[in-house]
Parts: sequence; structure tokens; C-alpha cells
Amino acid sequence: MPNLSNRTALIKPSPTLTLDAKVKAMKAQGIGIINLSVGEPDFQTPDHIKEAAIKAIRDGFTRYTPSEGIPELREAISRKLSLDNSLSYNPSQIVVSNGGKHALYNIMQCLFQEGDEVIIPTPYWVTYPDLVLLSGATPVFVPTYRQDGYILRPDVLARVLTPRSRGLILNSPSNPTGVVYSRENLKALAETVAAADLWVISDDIYEKLVYDQTPFVNLVMAAPELQSRVVIAHGVSKTYCMTGWRIGFLAGPEPLARAAAKLQSQMTSNPNSVAQKAALAALEGPQECIDSLREAFGRRRNILVELLRKIPGVTCPEPKGAFYVFPDFSRHFGRTIGRVKIEKADDLASVLLEECQVATVPGSGFGEKRSIRLSYAASDDELRQGLERLTNLLI
Ligand SMILES: Cc1ncc(COP(=O)(O)O)c(C=O)c1O
Repeated sequence: MPNLSNRTALIKPSPTLTLDAKVKAMKAQGIGIINLSVGEPDFQTPDHIKEAAIKAIRDGFTRYTPSEGIPELREAISRKLSLDNSLSYNPSQIVVSNGGKHALYNIMQCLFQEGDEVIIPTPYWVTYPDLVLLSGATPVFVPTYRQDGYILRPDVLARVLTPRSRGLILNSPSNPTGVVYSRENLKALAETVAAADLWVISDDIYEKLVYDQTPFVNLVMAAPELQSRVVIAHGVSKTYCMTGWRIGFLAGPEPLARAAAKLQSQMTSNPNSVAQKAALAALEGPQECIDSLREAFGRRRNILVELLRKIPGVTCPEPKGAFYVFPDFSRHFGRTIGRVKIEKADDLASVLLEECQVATVPGSGFGEKRSIRLSYAASDDELRQGLERLTNLLI
């Protein structure tokens, strides 16, 4: 066989999707797995959204659409940004893609290239480094600290800047820590970002999943003077339980939007026509479905945090958004559980899966080896059972 390109050798398969496939295979074999590894809401897409898609099919809305997405959906996104975030974006500054991940891929392909450095605060969502690598640029990791609530500090950011620094990725609410940046946190970063002439990618995908009345703010809202250097990546996957529909979007300066639409026109032609109609119904229809989602996740978060904090040697910061907790298990490192010496979170997550049939995601994929990500996109019952097994394993 002739050689494959170097490009695919640069990246690794998504660790979360790989684990998900393993868990599904174990389930198919009849193994009673409790799955706390999932990155998607366990609720159904609301009926009015499904109906809009069914209508689109019946109406024959099944052909190619404009590459950048149908005008009415881009107008709806523009309205959403205005109403929810008080931000002004013309539809010409918005491109609809095949999921938030695809929007991020397009953004990075359009902004970065060989020789560039893109700064990623750790812990980070597993996909960012690989998307940076695919653009030709080099990921540069900048630490955030538990004692700062995992918020990136401007002085720490300043330490990793070089003449090659070209971009910074911010994700709030964050996957995996659940941290939510405040207006002040973002304002504090604005000066450093502008002085270093960075692009900032603001991944807002968990915007609506915030608890305890925590307000959602992104960098453009906090520092409007930065609008021309910020690109928002977003989508309907998490907010409307639409992970399988694959609709995401970007909002940013018009030249970037034009470049992303051009790239997309040669890559996927357009996002799925029927899913675009569904996303339109999601954004324009009743929004109460989000309140019930937020209410359910808020309750489950409380259950999980309370149970985790009862386990000796586990430190569990309280997440303010998204649907993950990211507790630190490092005080259990050095112990032998079963036949396995626990040296890092990966070892613990494997024992948990093999011996207790509880699936979680070890922190190494997120750039933090002391923690494990547990998702609370699972029923109250599963959360309690999963935590009982974890507690019995550790005490
Ligand atoms: C932080 C973050 N950004 C983006 C995405 C991508 O979402 P989508 O399913 O729309 O591609 C995810 C999905 O897990 C995520 O966690």
C-alpha cells in the first residue's frame, strides 16, 4: 500500500468518542455499565424541533442550500446574538456548519497556519489541540489553577506569549471543569490579548447550561472593543439536545466568515438542509425546554458534588456550568486497588470501568492527570449507583 499523508498521523482519535464506542460495545454484550462519560444531554430533542424537520422533509426541503447556511437560520442566529448577548452581528458574519466541532475546524483552518502558536488553557476540551495541529499551527498549553477556580490569569497568559503567538481558545462554561468566566475575569484578559494581537476563539457551546443564576458572558460582551479579533463558536447540540443533528455556527469578522464559507463550499457544500430547519425551529420556537434542562442538570450536579465530597481524599470544585464535574483524585495515587497500582487518573478510570463497570473519562485527555471527568448527563439513579461503586472502590 502507498503511504498515507502525514496529516492524520499528527492527530489522535477523539478519546471521548473512542471511550463512548467501548462503552456501547460493552452494553451490547449485556454488561451493566453505568455511563458517566457522555458528552451529550440524555434527553430527547423537543417535539416542536422534530416536527419542523419532518415538515422540511415533507415539503421537499431536501436539496443543496447556500454553503454558509440558509438565510433565515443565519438571521435567527443574528437575532439570538442580539437578544441573548446584546451583540450585533449581520447574517453575513455568520456561517452555519455541521456541528460546533466543524465550526471550530473551519475557524482554525481560516485563522492559523505553520509557524503560528495557538494558546490553549489547561484543562481543555480534548479536540482543541488536534484542530490546532490540523491547521498546521502548534498548540501551546497554558496552565490554569484549581485555586484560581481554573480561570486563566493574564500574568500566566503573558508568560507563554512569543512573537509567534497568534490565537487563544477560551471555553466558558468549560468542558471539563464547568468553570464559568465572569465579566471581570474576561476584562482582565482583554488588555493582554489586544497587546499581543491575538485572535480569540470563544467557544460558547454551553452558554445556556449555567447554574445558581450565574450569568453567561463572553469576551465580546465583556470587552466590545475586541469584537474584530474574536470569533464565536457555538451550536444547538447541547442547548436543544441535538447532538446528532450536527448544526453549529461561527460569528466573527466578515472576511473570516467569507473564508469559512468558501472552505465549506469545497468541503461539505452545506450543512444538512433538514437539520438547518430543525435548528431554526430550535432558535425561534419556545425556549422553556432549556429551563427544564437547566433545572434537571442543576439538581444532578448537586447530587454528584455532594456524593463526591463525601469520599475521603477527593477534592471536588463546584462547577457553575456545562454538565461535568472534574474532581481531583491525586490523594489516592500510590495506592494499589485490586491488582492495579494507581499512579494517575487513567489508572483509576480503568479500574473503575473494568471492576465496577462505571465509565468516566480520565483527565489526561484534557491535559490534567490528577482528575477524572464525570458527566451528569445521566439519570439521578445512575449517578447514585455510579457514585456508590466509586465510593466502595476508594474507601
Ligand atoms: C467545549 C465543546 N465545544 C464544542 C463541542 C462540539 O459540539 P458539537 O456536537 O456541536 O460538534 C463540544 C462537544 O462535546 C464541546 O464539549
